[in-house]
Amino acid sequence: MPVIEVRDLSRKFGDFTAVNGVSFEVEQGEIIGFLGPNGAGKTTTINMLCTLLKPTGGSASVNGFDVASRQDMVRRSIGLIFQDPTLDERLTGWQNLQFHAMLYDVPAAVFESRAKELLEMVELTDKVKESVKAFSGGMKRRLEIARGLLHHPKVLFLDEPTIGLDPQTRRHIWEYLVKVRDQERLTLFLTTHYMDEAEIADRIAIIDHGDIVALDTPSKLKAMVGGDVVTLCTDDDERAQRVLAGLGVTPTKRDDGLRVEIDHGDRFIPLVLGAMSAATLSRRVQGINTKLRQNGLPVCDAPGTAVRFKKSGGHETDEGKGAPEELSPVETDWADDPADRETTIRAFLGASAADREYFLQTKPGIEEEARKYLKRARVKSGRD
Ligand SMILES: Nc1ncnc2c1ncn2[C@@H]1O[C@H](COP(=O)(O)OP(=O)(O)OP(=O)(O)O)[C@@H](O)[C@H]1O
Ligand SMILES: [Mg+2]
Repeated sequence: MPVIEVRDLSRKFGDFTAVNGVSFEVEQGEIIGFLGPNGAGKTTTINMLCTLLKPTGGSASVNGFDVASRQDMVRRSIGLIFQDPTLDERLTGWQNLQFHAMLYDVPAAVFESRAKELLEMVELTDKVKESVKAFSGGMKRRLEIARGLLHHPKVLFLDEPTIGLDPQTRRHIWEYLVKVRDQERLTLFLTTHYMDEAEIADRIAIIDHGDIVALDTPSKLKAMVGGDVVTLCTDDDERAQRVLAGLGVTPTKRDDGLRVEIDHGDRFIPLVLGAMSAATLSRRVQGINTKLRQNGLPVCDAPGTAVRFKKSGGHETDEGKGAPEELSPVETDWADDPADRETTIRAFLGASAADREYFLQTKPGIEEEARKYLKRARVKSGRD
């Protein structure tokens, strides 16, 4: 049974929807990361799961307890590290822990050994008698983690636990958390802005404007982000697929064409065009566009980079253009008329390298025709 079950969970503030019907499940011992920009709805989701905020729609249960009707039971079974520090600065580290133990009815005998064990883990044993006022940001966070774990919660919620901390401290904090997860089969629910931090999670939910736009393992999400998507619109997809297979690429067939995910779309497109025309397929290519997937938001309609084919050939990339653009049509009949053919060949021979690329893409066989033309010209001028 999942430790966290969320169904169509929503939260509105007046007319504004902060969380828009999210659904997901988290298994025991799993680390789930909520990754998203400011205002995405991360804290609002956590607050609903921790019973600090009532949902306005949908349902959620934590450790089998409904968050709306069994608030007490939910609260007893979870630990929470808030986005903003909540330690009492007037107390010492140890006193902060004692106060928490009192609130959670942790028996004195259990408290003593548990607190020592946790303080050792977060490397604060030597500091615990000092006033929290004198703690650094990293020390405060570590103390909050120890406090959050004091009453043996089954789920620990951490809202941006490492914000503002240096990379080394962040790494240490993750090491502690993974250690407790492994030792106690604790479930961790964390939010973060950082992809690298979210990578520690078993699964990452990417949340934006209150919607979960992706939920998968870090490696699968990473494979989805950061590269280019090239969509090939052809009227013979099977042949195109064979050509792509020859390039070692497996496309996904979609309504809008053959979709290829590739690291360097800019290098891949000329390759495809070359291979397509070698297979006399280029006349069938109707359009190609790439969309640079936004880091962290691998959604299909993410604004990105389009490849625009200029009349002069070659391609250029433009930020913010998402729509496919028509490729200059391939003219299979360009050589049919002898007069036109000669003019075209001369234009090809006099063209710049970039413009030659355009002729090669749109006029199949022009290179061979040009070679023949030059040979004929040499014969005529008696040089051959
Ligand atoms: N009590 C509230 N009243 C009105 N609007 C709120 C309230 N709490 C949150 N919001 C709005 O809901 C949206 C989501 O806020 P939330 O705090 O969940 O975002 P977040 O993902 O945690 O962002 P951050 O990364 O900045 O912490 C924001 O637009 C915020 O302004
Ligand atoms: Mg927040």
